[in-house]
Formats: sequence, structure tokens, C-alpha cells
Amino acid sequence: EEKSNKIIIGFSQCTSNDQWRQSMNSEMYRTASFHPELELIIKDAEGENWRQIKQIENFIEQKVDLLIISPNQSDPITDIAVSAFEKGIQTIIIDRKINSYKYSAYIGADNYEIGKNVAQYIGTLFKSPKKIIEITGLEGSSPAQERHSGFIEGLKSYSQLKLVYSEDGKWDQLNAEEITKNLIDSIDFDVVFAHNDIMALGASKIIKQNSNKNTFIIGIDALPTLGLDMVDKGIINASFLYPTGGNEAINLALKILNKQPHYKLNLLSSAIVDNSNAKVLNLQAAQLTIFQNQIEKQIQNIKDQELKYNNQKTLLNTTVIS
Ligand code: FRU
Repeated sequence: EEKSNKIIIGFSQCTSNDQWRQSMNSEMYRTASFHPELELIIKDAEGENWRQIKQIENFIEQKVDLLIISPNQSDPITDIAVSAFEKGIQTIIIDRKINSYKYSAYIGADNYEIGKNVAQYIGTLFKSPKKIIEITGLEGSSPAQERHSGFIEGLKSYSQLKLVYSEDGKWDQLNAEEITKNLIDSIDFDVVFAHNDIMALGASKIIKQNSNKNTFIIGIDALPTLGLDMVDKGIINASFLYPTGGNEAINLALKILNKQPHYKLNLLSSAIVDNSNAKVLNLQAAQLTIFQNQIEKQIQNIKDQELKYNNQKTLLNTTVIS
């Protein structure tokens, strides 16, 4: 069977119900498709630690050649991730971290630095006193912890900025809407820092429906057609690029599998997006999508040709034998 010859990469994805995760998955599939020797299997834990643990156990039993994990929360996923590594499976941790360094490599942007940069951006923009509310990502997931602690550290340099409220929005738009609804009449605030763009969108919706205040809203991710568009249209004011790393993860996996030298810590870079660059970035992203689609079409053409060629070869062989 053709299947058994393939190198199998198992990816344990914490959730797939948002565009950022979906774009990470499709980046991985696309990059993997350039390498016919690879088979990529993605399992979606749907935001449940127990399900992610089970799916990683299955990957271990299946003896995948390499495991990629984006942990839902750090603590609950640490043991199973470490145990995979200790059983000799190469593991790459992506985006969210575990509480251990027992893995082959980590890949992701620096969330502490992003949090700090958010404070710096707001502090440079506003010289007068501003009250900030923070809607954090899921408690116990490392980007939420790091974005928060980086933000707190960054605020120390700007005495005019005051964090007046912080609550867990669990990376979810509806939670952010709920939180904002509850705050809008009870707390006075000028700035919302949401740990991702969809929560920033939730806050923006509620604020625009319920007040005519000019609240400054900043998120994170800046995904093409999502966050970039929101900044371009003024639905939110700013965002930070948070690359998914899907493409880089597969390339790193190949290096590891081919026993080539690689870094253990692989940092992806981030940058501020505001009304000065959102439009250009969005246009560039659209152009990239066109190129990617063309490339995918070409790959499909090549595969079709190969299939035809192989069929003809078989036919030819059959003729010769009989
Ligand atoms: C997507 C997401 C992103 C965020 C990342 C943090 O599931 O919530 O919006 O940047 O996860 O891990």
C-alpha cells in the first residue's frame, strides 16, 4: 500500500472553530502538499483538553513520525506531550506552550513582547490619562498569560495609562460581547485591549450599539480579510500581526525528519497594524492568495499528469505481459 511508505505528521490542533486556526491548518496542508512523501493528519480537539489528550494518545499509538501540538491549555496537555517526546516521537510545539522544555522545537511569535508592544503603542499614541479594559484569552493558555504579563510590564513606563478592569474572554467573540455589555454602563473606559481580533470585534459591536463614545480598540492577529479588514474599515483601531506559523512548522518538521540542523526555539515576527498600513497589507495578502491558488492549481495539474502517466505505464505493461 502506498500509505505505509509515507512519512506521517500528526497535528493535534486545540480548536478549529475560528479563522486563525483554519488558516493555520490550510497553510500546513498546502506546504505539506509540496512534499508527496508526507501525509499530514490534523485532529481537532474542539477546545477540550481531554479530547486533545486522547487524540495525542492515538497519534502515539499510531507511531506517527512527527507530532505537532498546539495545546489548548498548558498544564493539562504537558504530561501527554512530554510522554510522546520521551517515547521517541519528534514533537513540535506551536503557538501555545506546554510547561516543559521536553520537545524537539517550539515555533511561534513572542506573546510577552506583543503584550508589551501593545502598551507601548497606546502609551505613545495617548499622552493624556486613559482608562483601559483588557479582555484576555483563555486562562491557562500561554499566549493569554504572556500577553497579559507583557502588557502589565509595558504599562509601567506610561503613568497616564491605567488598567481598570481585566476579564477572561476565552478567545471568544460572544464572551467579549457579554463582558463589554456588562461593563458599558458600570465602568468608564477609553481603551479596550482584547487579546485577539474577534474579541475586539465583539467589544466594538457592543460599544457602537450602546454608546457614541470614541473608544480606542486594539486586538491581535491581523488576519487577512479579518483583522486587517477590521482595521482598514475602522471597526477596530489597531492590531498586531500574529502569524500562524503553519507553513514554517511543516518546513521545520521536514528539517527534523531529515536530521538537518534546526533551532529549538523558532520565533516568528510580529508588527503593529493600524490605519497607516492596514490597506496595503490587505491588498498584498489578496495578491498572495491569488498566487497561492495558481500554485495549488499547478500542483493539481502535475498530480493529474502523473496519474495519467502511471495509468498508461500500467496499460503498456499489461500489453507486454499478455
Ligand atoms: C485562535 C486564537 C488566536 C490567538 C491564538 C492564541 O484560536 O485564539 O486568535 O491569537 O489562538 O493561541
